[in-house]
Amino acid sequence: MAESFIVSGNTKEEKYNSLIPQIQALIEGETDVIANLSNILSALKFGMDFFWVGVYFVKDLSPALSLKEGEGEKKELVLGPFQGPVACTRIAYGKGVCGTAWKEKRTIIVEDVEKFPGHIACSSLSKSEIVLPGFNKKGDVSLILDADSEYLSNFDETDKKYLEQVMRLIETFL
Ligand code: SME
Repeated sequence: MAESFIVSGNTKEEKYNSLIPQIQALIEGETDVIANLSNILSALKFGMDFFWVGVYFVKDLSPALSLKEGEGEKKELVLGPFQGPVACTRIAYGKGVCGTAWKEKRTIIVEDVEKFPGHIACSSLSKSEIVLPGFNKKGDVSLILDADSEYLSNFDETDKKYLEQVMRLIETFL
């Protein structure tokens, strides 16, 4: 299986068009969330040459870290499977690009991370990013997908279109 995983194409669009059917095949018949996410993230990292790509799960705040009642949300983002250098473990609701995509329930493209107020820098090498929310059956955000690049303005509407397709695939096994 792994040997036959090859992403072809010169343009971003061609690469995604080669990648997405293979991602679909990778997860077919498998329901394990961690196994599927791990393979999808590896496929994205090496297929699209991202610097870092991974997910954060929306989880209940651990009691030890809980804010006083009324001071904030009862949930936070916790790092899940990823490919790339070590990353921040927990992100609060509304914080950074990830927390903002969760709060606003929408995909956010950041062309220059230094220009996004409150951006959380897990690595100084990361220059641009795209963050997408994933929804559970009730329509709540239950997962965040974050892809980072070492290059400024690496992500555009093409990435949004295809990564949203990947997210719809992820939602089938969440
Ligand atoms: N930059 C993100 C944090 C996650 S890492 O980049 C892996 C943010 O601002 O939410």
